[in-house]
Amino acid sequence: MRIVLGVTGGIAGYKAALLLRLFTESGHDVTVVPTSAALEFVGAPTWEALSGKPVQTGVFENVHAVPHVKLGQSADLVVVAPATADLLAKAACGMANDLLTNTLLTARCPVVMAPAMHTEMWLHPATQANVATLRERGVTIVEPASGRLTGADTGPGRLPDPDVIYEAALAAAASGTRRDGAEKVPVAREQGPLAGRTVLVTAGGTREAIDPVRYLGNRSSGKMGFAIAAAAADLGAKVTLVTTATPPADVASRVDVVMVESARAMREKVLEAEPDLLVMAAAVADFRPGEVATSKIKKTHGPGDDSAPVITLVRNPDILAEAVAQRDAKADSEARRRVIVGFAAETGDADGDVLFHARAKLARKGCDVLVANEVGDGVTFGQDESTAHLLRADSDEVVTVGPAPKSHIAAAVVDLAASIFTTQ
Ligand code: CTP
Repeated sequence: MRIVLGVTGGIAGYKAALLLRLFTESGHDVTVVPTSAALEFVGAPTWEALSGKPVQTGVFENVHAVPHVKLGQSADLVVVAPATADLLAKAACGMANDLLTNTLLTARCPVVMAPAMHTEMWLHPATQANVATLRERGVTIVEPASGRLTGADTGPGRLPDPDVIYEAALAAAASGTRRDGAEKVPVAREQGPLAGRTVLVTAGGTREAIDPVRYLGNRSSGKMGFAIAAAAADLGAKVTLVTTATPPADVASRVDVVMVESARAMREKVLEAEPDLLVMAAAVADFRPGEVATSKIKKTHGPGDDSAPVITLVRNPDILAEAVAQRDAKADSEARRRVIVGFAAETGDADGDVLFHARAKLARKGCDVLVANEVGDGVTFGQDESTAHLLRADSDEVVTVGPAPKSHIAAAVVDLAASIFTTQ
């Protein structure tokens, strides 16, 4: 899940660092949005080190990425812990004077707030009225605990333990919808830039049968394809994931999953679908055994036989190149508007660096975008982080993302593809 963790200016901010760890250690992609007051208590380096991402409090940094809109739109869950009386008041009024309050206004996902403040502030009718308003709009409020506060005083107002907020947050996310005003707003982003578009993503390494029990395969885990499929669903697309590897439940629940094994089976699914956006993230085997034995190949054929079979390989179809040819052969403008993204795992060599080979492959394959991953020494395959260069056929500009979690690279790839639709 993509989680935005809002942190506001309270002494309990240090507990949010533990909450952040719970989220990241369970595999979630967390962007921390502290308010400027929050940074008086726990500094930006803590949030950046624990989340693996830069943090920003205002809306005038990093403006080209439009974070004041995008963060909320693409979040699956927003959690504010601790939520001060000030934040509750701003959220109840719909104010938007920093990144966190902007994010709260653009989010259509479940929102959870864990208030923490002194008892008098918590019990004040103004705070209670704001909390009631937020609840009425579907925000989940995690009640403050009673106990020792910052000084010697005790009473309700303590931030609950991080695991209590963690459980409440996951339960709110699982509930799937939030009330926003009088209307139930579904989590699916019908308004997203890919709303109404069909997207097909391939993922995983193909398996090329040798006999009924053996195959030739490769090390691809499918993680990049899963992240792309999730990112496209985030932007409102109808996504089909054609994959050799089983996707995690939070991806499978939001896309149509088609399991395949071989390159030829994958090719059939891709060519029959003709999606608006095709992303070939799969590691497709270039070769397969020419003959597939119909029964298991035996080690020996009798005493003294220590021979080994010779497997002759034949070329597999190049699915990406065929999909480009299929699109380009169609004269209708609908087909020309389709966008095709290829991937390349590249290393530099004596002929040129990664970008040199990537540019050549982009031209050879004829796709609109090529995502070049730097590989070698265990980099990329099966890892959660990688570095990718995004090359476009219609521009010399290269966008480099990373080293970053695959979910970030996926979001950048899908954003780029969506921008091609909007400029067509
Ligand atoms: N691909 C494909 N069908 C194949 C092989 C690859 O559709 N038979 C797609 C991959 O999914 C990827 C892109 O083509 O999106 C690039 O794959 P890659 O193996 O790097 O390309 P090749 O043309 O095989 O180049 P190389 O000689 O570098 O392996």
